Amino acid sequence: MMYPHLFSPLTVGALTLRNRVVMAPMTRSRATDDDLVTDLHVEYYRQRANAGLIVTEGVHPSADGKGYNRTPGIYNEEQVAAWRAVTHAVHDEGGLIACQLMHCGRVGHANNKAAGTEFLAPSAIAAQAQIFTESGMQAMPTPRAMTLADIKAVMNDYARATQLCLDAGFDAIELHCASGYLPAQFLASGSNLRTDQYGGNLENRLRFVAELLTVMADIAGPDRIGLRISPGNPYNDHADENPLETYSALLKIADNLGLAWVHAIRMASTGIDSLALSKKNYGGTVIGSDSFDAPEADTFIGEGRTDAVSFGRAYISNPDLVARMQADAPLNPMDKKTIYAGTGTAGYTDYPTLEQND
Ligand SMILES: Cc1cc2nc3c(=O)[nH]c(=O)nc-3n(C[C@H](O)[C@H](O)[C@H](O)COP(=O)(O)O)c2cc1C
Repeated sequence: MMYPHLFSPLTVGALTLRNRVVMAPMTRSRATDDDLVTDLHVEYYRQRANAGLIVTEGVHPSADGKGYNRTPGIYNEEQVAAWRAVTHAVHDEGGLIACQLMHCGRVGHANNKAAGTEFLAPSAIAAQAQIFTESGMQAMPTPRAMTLADIKAVMNDYARATQLCLDAGFDAIELHCASGYLPAQFLASGSNLRTDQYGGNLENRLRFVAELLTVMADIAGPDRIGLRISPGNPYNDHADENPLETYSALLKIADNLGLAWVHAIRMASTGIDSLALSKKNYGGTVIGSDSFDAPEADTFIGEGRTDAVSFGRAYISNPDLVARMQADAPLNPMDKKTIYAGTGTAGYTDYPTLEQND
């Protein structure tokens, strides 16, 4: 068999994956004005249920948590019902699916979210970065520094969203703690200048994420909670004076909580080997991410450098990615123009399978 390590089953917390191929979370900006997923999302995820585990696109736990154009939410019953059709479709195909909770915090633009919503962050510091909106690229706003009451309210939003994920039939929940979004904003010394118990020294900067993970684990069980990290990644003006120290400590928290997985993005430019760092500080399942192909994934798993590997862009253009990798067949190229575009099938659910290629 091609790639015996990649195509062996794996126990991840409460889940048993039929292979070690994970579909990486990918924002595709196709939700409705009410932040709902549609029949097209159902079909998109159903087509990709061959993965051992799908991690959805980032899903905001509250209207405030939205930052990008046309991302879906999970904060009301209508959204739960819409997601339920997705989880049922994936389960009907024998797959598993986790919801990625993504609160953007200071990242975003008013054009991308509902009137009356706010940009909340640990400190009132704008991210020096631009973001796509339907009226072009825009600078990011200065957020409002969260009060202690806001922190409690956001924790409650995540708690409600965690329960709604379970209600919607998700098998697990992944906390997006990478790429400069709200949890990472608390961790990083550049975006967290608070002087209370949620800022300042490392222990205080870790507190928000540690409490959040505890709240989520209390609801779903730690064996159904994953954590996504990208140590040292400067995306969205994410700047920390000592990411090695910060993420070592965070990984130890994940270890103590007994979380199901850590999903680590590797990024050579950071000088940090995030997979090795995860393996060193955390004893559960490590999912490696970024620019893997099947041969490298199989080698990394065989060498114990990661337990599973996620594939992002390859899954955009190859709904039957597992079958293709098992056959060592060529992959469809990805059309960059349709990554985020539109509400139709183009570039979303119309990529051909291997059989349709022939
Ligand atoms: C279109 C697109 C959207 C993405 N959206 C998210 C997201 O919502 N949440 C997240 O954690 N990562 C997101 N990522 C990062 C991917 O999960 C993954 O780490 C990245 O694509 C590298 O993996 P790859 O080389 O297999 O594509 C996104 C990547 C792409 C290409």
